[in-house]
Amino acid sequence: MSSTLFRTKKVEQSILDTEEPEHALKKSLSALDLTVFGVGVIIGTGIFVLTGTVAKNNAGPAVALAFVVAGVVCALAALCYAEFASTVPVAGSAYTFSYASLGELPAWIIGWDLVLEFALGTAVVAVGWSGYIHSLMDNAGWELPAALGTRDGADGFGFDILAAALVLVLTAVLVLGTKLSARVTSIVVAIKVTVVLTVIVAGAFFSKADNYDPFVPRAQEVPAGDSLQSPLIQLMFGWAPSNFGVMGIFTAASVVFFAFIGFDVVATAAEETKNPQRDMPRGILGSLLICTTLYVAVSIVVTGMQNYTELSVTAPLADAFKATGHPWFAGFISFGAAVGLTTVCMILLLGQTRVFFAMSRDGLLPRFFSHVHPRFKTPHRPTILLGVIIAVLAGFTPLSELAELVNIGTLFAFVVVAIGVTILRRTRPDLHRAFRTPWVPFVPILSVCASLWLMLNLPTETWLRFAFWMVLGFFVYFAYGRSHSRLGRHEETGVDEVLKPPGRDAP
Ligand code: ALA
Repeated sequence: MSSTLFRTKKVEQSILDTEEPEHALKKSLSALDLTVFGVGVIIGTGIFVLTGTVAKNNAGPAVALAFVVAGVVCALAALCYAEFASTVPVAGSAYTFSYASLGELPAWIIGWDLVLEFALGTAVVAVGWSGYIHSLMDNAGWELPAALGTRDGADGFGFDILAAALVLVLTAVLVLGTKLSARVTSIVVAIKVTVVLTVIVAGAFFSKADNYDPFVPRAQEVPAGDSLQSPLIQLMFGWAPSNFGVMGIFTAASVVFFAFIGFDVVATAAEETKNPQRDMPRGILGSLLICTTLYVAVSIVVTGMQNYTELSVTAPLADAFKATGHPWFAGFISFGAAVGLTTVCMILLLGQTRVFFAMSRDGLLPRFFSHVHPRFKTPHRPTILLGVIIAVLAGFTPLSELAELVNIGTLFAFVVVAIGVTILRRTRPDLHRAFRTPWVPFVPILSVCASLWLMLNLPTETWLRFAFWMVLGFFVYFAYGRSHSRLGRHEETGVDEVLKPPGRDAP
């Protein structure tokens, strides 16, 4: 049994499955390209929305420290991720790498986890986008009925119509096979960075020293009935559930971790990098450093402009300017945020459908989903199915709850990846590694501990939801994936089904 759970797909098969060997990826990316790409994927709802939410609910002005903590955790994970991504010479996600190296069950776990990361991540960014569109409409004096507005801080039944509409429109765009050109990506990155720098520079003039007092608000006990919303670590050690204080910084870090998601996508470009050993760490750590610096500066400025207790939880960066009497800046920020968030949303949605597609192509999910559209050559079935589910989720669920679930899934994937790097060094020392993590096993062990620490700082109810998702995943794997796996069938029947180039049915 265990041998089937850890059966691996040959590296050669992975290559055949994704592209034909003569179409080897061009090694054209430099450290600068990777950095620009990284900044483009990373900056999104995390900084534009979650900064306000966590400052108000968990950390006060100390949210700036939370960004530093989350940045360090990501840097450690990034070093492991880059080796993992460059070990198996195929363009793809952690799912593909682990199938080729760790085995089918770990690959399934990571794939199932990535579906959660990308699908719910898309919803989070769509909800953030909706907050800024509302802020922009508010500038123009327009208003939607409250029941159609964002769900954060809202009471009663409602549906965030704008968030859902964005996901559906992007789904249609992806079905049609539209791609973001490098030119569009760089323009959007330029707009996003300009907006963030505007917040920092202009906002600095409107900040007041009083708002930083206290910088780390005193810990407050949480009413007993809300204990499921307290970090698991507090429950585990029997600490009185509390918000703010030093522990509040870690709780905040586990939420703003979302702001860094996306650097893992950069790591997957190892094969297209001119000199991966040198440029990968430069690109990944460079984009993480730039983003952390911008995030820290933005959060210091925003909590200086408005007292943390008054920050908005839907469009805090723009609303802080409105609160200080500068609606023009607010309009500019909302516009830039809306443009920037659209592309992040699209990239996450694309990642999501491709992971689902790859799992289906391997037979772990029904093959029905790996059929490509005859005309558009896109995996239209998973794109439409998941697009509709994500749109409904984005419409009904408050942003922070979604973000917490994305984070726990992503952090868990980082734990598996860091362990995987160490195991692979022992079991497959022969594999060529375009990039090698420094100080193995020290860095991977530190990365596992750091990711676990952030996970433990997430609310208990997030753990329960995550456990439910993983149990569902195991159920699907044992009820369907294990017996339908192409690799498994190949091993049983000896028919070389896997090796036939499935480029025919791949996008
Ligand atoms: N890091 C991206 C964001 O904050 C996903 O939106």
